[in-house]
Amino acid sequence: MDPVRTEISAAGVATLTIANPPVNALGAAVRAGLLSGLTAALANADVRAIVIAAEGKVFVAGADISEFGKPPVPPSLPDVLSAVEGSAKPVVAAINGLALGGGLELALACHARVAAPAARLGLPEIKLGIIPGAGGTQRLPRLVGAAPAFAMMAGGEPVSAEKARAMGLVDDIADGDLVATAATQALRLAEAGTWPRSGAAESKFSAEDRAAFETAASDAIRKSPRMPNVAALAHAVRVGLEKGLAEGLAAERAAFLELVKDPTSKALRHLFFAEREAARVPGIGKEVKARPVASAAVIGAGTMGGGIAMCFAQAGIPVTLIEVKEEALSAGLARIRSNYETSVKRGSLTSEKMERHLGFITGRVGLEAAAEADIVVEAAFEDMGVKAEIFGALDRLAKPGAILATNTSYLDVNAIAETTKRPQDVVGLHFFSPANVMRLLEIVRGAKTAPDVLVTSLDLARKIGKLPVVVGVCYGFVGNRMLAKRTQAAERLLLAGAMPHEVDDAVTDFGFRMGPFAMSDLAGLDIGWRARKATGAKAPVADALAEQGFFGQKTGRGFYRYPEGARKGERDPDTEALITRLSDERGITRRSFSREEIIARLMYPMVNEGAKILEEGIASRSSDVDVVWVNGYNWPNFTGGPMHWAEGVGLARIVEALDALAAETGDDSLKPAALLRRLAQGGSFADKDAA
Ligand code: 3HC
Repeated sequence: MDPVRTEISAAGVATLTIANPPVNALGAAVRAGLLSGLTAALANADVRAIVIAAEGKVFVAGADISEFGKPPVPPSLPDVLSAVEGSAKPVVAAINGLALGGGLELALACHARVAAPAARLGLPEIKLGIIPGAGGTQRLPRLVGAAPAFAMMAGGEPVSAEKARAMGLVDDIADGDLVATAATQALRLAEAGTWPRSGAAESKFSAEDRAAFETAASDAIRKSPRMPNVAALAHAVRVGLEKGLAEGLAAERAAFLELVKDPTSKALRHLFFAEREAARVPGIGKEVKARPVASAAVIGAGTMGGGIAMCFAQAGIPVTLIEVKEEALSAGLARIRSNYETSVKRGSLTSEKMERHLGFITGRVGLEAAAEADIVVEAAFEDMGVKAEIFGALDRLAKPGAILATNTSYLDVNAIAETTKRPQDVVGLHFFSPANVMRLLEIVRGAKTAPDVLVTSLDLARKIGKLPVVVGVCYGFVGNRMLAKRTQAAERLLLAGAMPHEVDDAVTDFGFRMGPFAMSDLAGLDIGWRARKATGAKAPVADALAEQGFFGQKTGRGFYRYPEGARKGERDPDTEALITRLSDERGITRRSFSREEIIARLMYPMVNEGAKILEEGIASRSSDVDVVWVNGYNWPNFTGGPMHWAEGVGLARIVEALDALAAETGDDSLKPAALLRRLAQGGSFADKDAA
């Protein structure tokens, strides 16, 4: 099918309609189609004016990201847009839906913009580690002012049609026939014989606007030290302000081409596609249909269960929250209300919406209340006995075809499934805390989980705003299994000579918001301590702290001490003395570690575990592992996730370091996975993903 179609009306308007599903990205064929459509319309004496429209729900979602990093195919987008802007006949954009990135830049090059009421317009390039590369940094400021334009480009969030009109970004909102309204507008411009070019307008650049832009720019640069594109964005806008359009466009293009090659942008693009790829389950095609889910039940009104119930409620799915005792239920319901009230106070939720969400949640005592639900999510105590009892009861109570999900973080989903006579309906839905905030959802596929249960879970995840990754059954699944390796490595570093703050500083310097020890103090040292007691595992430092009743922030002491009211911990001389003593008792000569060495010791074992997870088929692709860690554990997105990062480090180097670590610690589990050894000799995780 032709990606750009032309129709000419009796009144002399040529409408060029972009049709490149799913999102009308501006790939080479679309660019060529636009240019030839424009050229033909200009050459046709019957045509007086031109409209650029698009088919489907989206106007244009931007440049085709999959072309980035490949040899460029002419015509370039900037060349097409210069031709549009310089057109001898007026061109009007008919923006039917989302206009993002290059899509909005196309509209900006037109001489007027008409939008449908539901359209949204934005320049999200910043989130991909780049900047607008087809005139956005120049034409947007000229249309709406430098400061508002910078805010829009640095934030990356789209604005509504209404807001766009108020800013002066769109000229008109069409309630009725969008293309007809745009055609009328185009003819009006043709009639007038003159039309505005956003690239030519300099009038918005008042002294106040420039000053506000400079303030916003230095703020943004300070807040995003890891993102080279923020400074590049400010630079391009500034060149345009000071030296005019042509130099501004040249500065923008040069920065854009440089940034596309930058590892940060490569990492962010990798994640863009990884997130979308994660929704595909090898072997399960479109023929598998989801089961209908009109109602849900959540068992357990604790923090987790409450958070999960909130997710359903926010998506407008009626949910019954179930507890064994009235008190626990009221406490759980009160916690949900109080969570929402905090959001209302902060201004991120209206009271009206809060009431609407709460209206979808009903509290009940007793499992019988789960009988009518299409999906039941168990979020009870993490204990096999408790889970077996609940699933046994659900097997008797739940309606046929209901999905029975467990939110277990570690337990064997297959064993849970076998406590029922319908293991095909059982699946793991591992939410991350706080469940109403964290995007990641590990969907744990049991040995007998039915394909349509998986498809329903994926569908539901999207409906409730989660990012799903399908994983297999093993202790801790993908995320927690790898986390355990980091936790163990962090303890080893303490005994070998590092102090908690040194480890945490290396990790925050790497880009995490929090280091492992600050994190343990926040979560509570008692949790891991109890879990280790049950399994016989050891963490000498954490165990010694917990045995003294030091559980972290909640007791005021842990790896750090927290004087009254302090949110950030301080170094604790007693904890440090304890660590030194534990090293001495083991005959370890303490030594210092560089930040680089700390990162290697913490992260390489995780990468190794990730490789084992791939070998065992627990994750289908290395990019799924990246999605889990970036979205569930705050792994810095600008590195692309642990597996993508590892490739940048070099797999051969990691293998060598792991061999050395295994020899030093005597821990055979640190020996490089066979897959890692093989790939280190030539290959990449990405090749394996593609295979
Ligand atoms: N290029 C290439 N493919 C794209 C794309 C793009 N700009 N935007 C979306 N796609 C693909 C997705 O990969 C996906 O493919 P798949 O079905 O094979 O997995 C398909 O389109 C549908 O996308 P989603 O699954 O994301 O669908 P949603 O409906 O959830 O979201 C969307 C649609 C909001 C448009 C979202 O896809 C999105 O945010 N896209 C990226 C927008 C963007 O960043 N644009 C700027 C690009 S950079 C640019 O324009 C540079 C310029 O300044 C020169």
